[in-house]
Amino acid sequence: MLTNHSFLNLPAYTQLKAHFDATESTHLRDLFAENPDRFNQFSLRFEDMLVDFSKNRVTTDTMSLLRQLAEQAGLSEAINKMFTGDTINGTEGRAVLHVALRNRSNTPILVNGEDVMPDVNAVLDHMRDFSEQLGAGTWKGYTGEAITDIVNIGIGGSDLGPVMVTEALKPYARPNLRVHFVSNVDGVHIYETLQQVRPETTLFMIASKTFTTQETMTNAGSARQWFLDNGGTTEGIARHFVAISTNEKAVTEFGIDAANMFGFWDWVGGRYSLWSAIGLSIACYIGFNNFADLLAGGHAMDEHFRDTPLEQNIPVTLALLGIWYNNFFGAQSQAILPYDQYMHRFAAYFQQGDMESNGKSVDRDGVPTDYQTGPIIWGEPGTNGQHAFYQLIHQGTKLIPCDFIAPAVSQHPMGSHHMMLLSNFFAQTEALMNGKTEEEAADELKKAGKSAEEIAQIAPFKAFSGNRPTNSFLLKQITPRALGSLIAMYEHKIFTQGVIWNIFSFDQWGVELGKQLANKILPELASDTPVSSHDSSTNGLINMYKQMR
Ligand code: F6P
Repeated sequence: MLTNHSFLNLPAYTQLKAHFDATESTHLRDLFAENPDRFNQFSLRFEDMLVDFSKNRVTTDTMSLLRQLAEQAGLSEAINKMFTGDTINGTEGRAVLHVALRNRSNTPILVNGEDVMPDVNAVLDHMRDFSEQLGAGTWKGYTGEAITDIVNIGIGGSDLGPVMVTEALKPYARPNLRVHFVSNVDGVHIYETLQQVRPETTLFMIASKTFTTQETMTNAGSARQWFLDNGGTTEGIARHFVAISTNEKAVTEFGIDAANMFGFWDWVGGRYSLWSAIGLSIACYIGFNNFADLLAGGHAMDEHFRDTPLEQNIPVTLALLGIWYNNFFGAQSQAILPYDQYMHRFAAYFQQGDMESNGKSVDRDGVPTDYQTGPIIWGEPGTNGQHAFYQLIHQGTKLIPCDFIAPAVSQHPMGSHHMMLLSNFFAQTEALMNGKTEEEAADELKKAGKSAEEIAQIAPFKAFSGNRPTNSFLLKQITPRALGSLIAMYEHKIFTQGVIWNIFSFDQWGVELGKQLANKILPELASDTPVSSHDSSTNGLINMYKQMR
């Protein structure tokens, strides 16, 4: 178990509050002007990645107080407990060991006295074998044709990770395999997907940790029915359906042979599971060696996180900056802005990763928190975002810390596209930091020949306050290894914040209530008889639906 504390009573919290009051109005422009070495002092390196956090509203004093906050919250002890299989998921009584899934150095990790690595390696071997058969075309469908299409059916952590990674690493895809993802219980999702595939050459991966999730089981049932209705045979199911789950009983009850099941364990959280058998679609799509590189990148970041002093520790630094804005500046959200089109699902992935982990309002003692916890995560790839919501980031009333991520080398160099993309990447963080004073705006208008009257009228609208914080992550290229490190970096950031906020980051009770109510409402929708068992709004909506359908 993690050692609990009171976040607001940590001595460093009080010091940070006073420090915030004294420095809140300091402008980043001035911090850069007075310290020519600011970039060097506030940037870190990890393999081929540069992390520049100098455009944040911090001084060395701020960072040192934030690190004291982490120390006082028992971060080092918590890291050690996670890596050694302690039961840190307190409300579910589980260890949290996604780090074991990518533990490429293979050092023993014990859960209840037993090393988990032999089981982890056995599943990886199964995945390698299966993905190689699919890649080589030797895994045949029921008519003897090779598999050309994988349909992964899963939702939440059993979908978002594989979707994000297969998109981000599309340039590494094997030429002979397509991958599709069905998550939504909205029937059009599976309908549209099935339009694109043939039963003879399609392999369905039913991905569900619990194998009870309504959306997944419904889609899996429809896929099986479609397979049988379109020429597939009952014996053929074994060639066309595999399961990825921790629930062998439910898998066999569904009709999938245990030999075609890829297992994982209760110590793998759904939103941390792309490294487990849930990543089977990734391994098949990009090949197992690339999947292993992804794991190796995650492992390298794990070692960095576990072994690096707080001053140079990248996930810890990011977590502390997030706490600085969240708990002192009152920032509500955090934007993740990849300047890489292949990473277009990256922010969506960390919406679950961060918000399902740290969207909590009861602390580890079971007491309601009287401070803010996890931020709202959002974002889209640059430069699309620039032409949509950046207006608000530049000139709106809200402070939105942003993470800018870009590769120096494009996967597909096309003329000067990549240089243009990167000129925007550099320009945005500079503009957000510096802003533009009203005098500068007036000067520009004067040079453009505007009258004094016009200048007075328009200059206030053309001014930018600046002082808007950003992190820049410049990677050489989005390789499987680099992506693995980047994902693990954010995972450990989330963990660090949860430890400091004294909350449990690895449960998700908040998704239960809606599920329970939907299960109660579903039978009520079967008949046309009006309902009266809910509040007037819910009754009104259900009854109108019954009239409209
Ligand atoms: O959204 C709730 C949740 O439990 C997630 O945490 C999980 O990733 C998702 O549902 C899917 O669960 P399963 O893999 O068990 O189908």
